[in-house]
Amino acid sequence: MDILKTKSAMQEWSKKKKKESKTVCLVPTMGYFHQGHISLMEKGKPLCDELVVSIFVNPTQFGPNEDLDSYPSNIENDLALAKKAGVTAVFLPSKKTVYPEKFQTEIKLQYLPGFLCGKFRPVHFSGVATVVTKLFNIVMPDIAIFGQKDYQQLQIIRQLTLDLDFDIKIIAGNIIREKDGLAMSSRNAYLSKLQRSSALSLSKSLNLAKELIARGEKNPVAIKNQIETFICTFPETTIEYISFCNPKTLEAVDSIEHQVLLAIAVKVGKTRLIDNALIDHPAQ
Ligand code: PAJ
Repeated sequence: MDILKTKSAMQEWSKKKKKESKTVCLVPTMGYFHQGHISLMEKGKPLCDELVVSIFVNPTQFGPNEDLDSYPSNIENDLALAKKAGVTAVFLPSKKTVYPEKFQTEIKLQYLPGFLCGKFRPVHFSGVATVVTKLFNIVMPDIAIFGQKDYQQLQIIRQLTLDLDFDIKIIAGNIIREKDGLAMSSRNAYLSKLQRSSALSLSKSLNLAKELIARGEKNPVAIKNQIETFICTFPETTIEYISFCNPKTLEAVDSIEHQVLLAIAVKVGKTRLIDNALIDHPAQ
C-alpha cells in the first residue's frame, strides 16, 4: 500500500496508473475508521483496479464553534485497516498541502445546502464541496464512493459532479449500524455511557416513522410531533431538526405520497448526531 503525502505525488501516482489503463476508485474520509468507512472500501474494491482512500480532516468544513480541534484521529490504526481492506494507496496530505497560503477559491452550491444540516452549519457544505473538488482533481478517480449516512453531502457531491463535468461515477454506500441500530460515526467516540443510550433515539425514531407510514399515516407534522415527544424522553437530547423531504431536491414535503427521506439531527450532550432513512410509501 502506497502512502502519498503531497498533491504532486498523488497526481503522478494516478497518472501512472491511468497510463497502465488501470481504473481508480476513491473513498474520501476524515479518518478514525469504523465499519462504515470500511464498507465503502469493500464496496469499491471489486469495482476498480486501484483503490485510493484519502484521510484529511478538512478544516474548511468545520464552523468556528465545532469540533475541528478535538476530531478523533488514529492514523496507525487507519492505515492497518485500509491495508486489510485492500486499499492500494492512501492520500494523507497536510493542511498546507491542501490549502496553501493565499488559497482563495470556494465551491458553493446554490440550493441543496439551504436545507437540513446546511441550515445549522452555514460553512459546512462549501467546505465539503471545495475539498471534494480538490480531491477529485488530485486523485482523478473513475469512481468515488460516499455513504448515505451523510445523505445531504451525497446529493451535493452528485450535483457538483454533474455541474462541474467531472467524469466520475458517484456510488452510494448503505448506512452501517451498530447491533442496536446506532449509525456508526467517528463522533460516537465522544459519547458517555448515558449519552450512548440516548443516541439510540435517532434510529428508533426512524423505525417509529416507518411503522406509522406503513400503517397509512401521511401527515409529516403528525409523525414529527410523535418523534419529538419520543426523543425528548431520552436524557441530554436537543433536537436540531426532523425533516420529511423529497429525496432528490431535499425540499420538505407536506404529505407523504411517494418515497420520502426522513432526516434527523439531534445533539446528545454536545455531540451532534445525524441519521436518515429513505422510507417507501406503503402503496409502492
Ligand atoms: P467522514 O465523516 O470521515 O466520512 C467518510 C465517508 O464515510 C462519507 O462518505 C460518509 O458518508 C461515510 N460514512 C460515515 N459513517 C458511515 C456509516 N455509518 N455507514 C456508511 N458510511 C458512512 O464525510 C466526510 O468524512 C467528509 O465530509 C469528506 C467527504 C471526507 C470531505 O471532507
